[in-house]
Amino acid sequence: MKMNSLALQYDSGKLLVLDQQLLPQKEQWIAVNGPEQMADIIRALKVRGAPLIGVAAAASLADWGLKTKPSPSDFLSTALMLRESRPTAVNLMNAIDRLLKVFDKTNFERVGEEAQAIFDEDVALCEQMAERANDFIQSGDGILTHCNTGGLATAGRGTAFGAFSYACEKGKKIHVYADETRPLLQGGRLTAWELGKNNIPHTLICDNMAASLMAQGKVQSVFVGTDRIALNGDVANKIGTYGLAVLCHYHKIPFYVVGPKTTVDKECFTGKNIPIEQRSDEEVLGVSGAFGKVRWAPDTTSVHNPAFDVTPVDLITGIILDGKYFSQKELKENALSK
Ligand code: MRU
Repeated sequence: MKMNSLALQYDSGKLLVLDQQLLPQKEQWIAVNGPEQMADIIRALKVRGAPLIGVAAAASLADWGLKTKPSPSDFLSTALMLRESRPTAVNLMNAIDRLLKVFDKTNFERVGEEAQAIFDEDVALCEQMAERANDFIQSGDGILTHCNTGGLATAGRGTAFGAFSYACEKGKKIHVYADETRPLLQGGRLTAWELGKNNIPHTLICDNMAASLMAQGKVQSVFVGTDRIALNGDVANKIGTYGLAVLCHYHKIPFYVVGPKTTVDKECFTGKNIPIEQRSDEEVLGVSGAFGKVRWAPDTTSVHNPAFDVTPVDLITGIILDGKYFSQKELKENALSK
């Protein structure tokens, strides 16, 4: 296996991931020694973003398989442990299931080849999404986005973020408004960092500033990524996405979702069936990480901290899935089931 992306590298039997908890203050790589460590890294959001957690989990499982040649039952239990490290992004389950499908105790190379294929496909799918999404971007647009959907969330140039970098490469003049994305600030820490690295004109806003920006006419479209797409077109993404879609509806602004086919859950018929990860109170009571530890709420405060919400298809203008575009009408006619 050989992998090289913004946040993941594999070469000569060495798996490295960029510690996203420390960004943007520190660019520090972690050497990953086995699936248990990778599961901890994924739970801690040191590696995050739906496509990337699938790619990273697959790479670590294949690497461990190649090195230790585990028994079928050990391979299965380790695969299931990784599969359960986060519950909402279906890319993780889809990637692990692909490795389980090709598992052969006499040929671990095959598992390595599949992990490589998952990585390579994600890079290619990012290019397809970016090219297709570019059709919905006009020069001069102000585009609002949520969470982080770039090279830190995928093996390639990203989902929604990929559309922004592609549009800029094509000479379009856009301005990206990045929601800081409470509670873990993937927008403020990661998207702002990536926008800067790519020289994309941008402004960081707090999540509660989107409505007033829209009212001022500064936002021509909203583009977000997704962690799971149900067959009826409902979409799970980072908490706060649903609120943005409601705001778009009121302000008559198009709301686009960009995702690869690995984000579609063929067994999930509606968004109501998407499991939503609940995370620790600590993330809302204060912050900790590269910025130190600060607690601003009383210790005894009761907290609600879902990591994702579901945006119903009624609020989605369209989904860019790989190189294809599905309008709300097509989604409602069950285009994703065909
Ligand atoms: O909790 P995270 O940071 O893994 O959440 C990530 C998102 O919600 C992204 O928008 C999503 O994974 C799709 S973008 C590749």
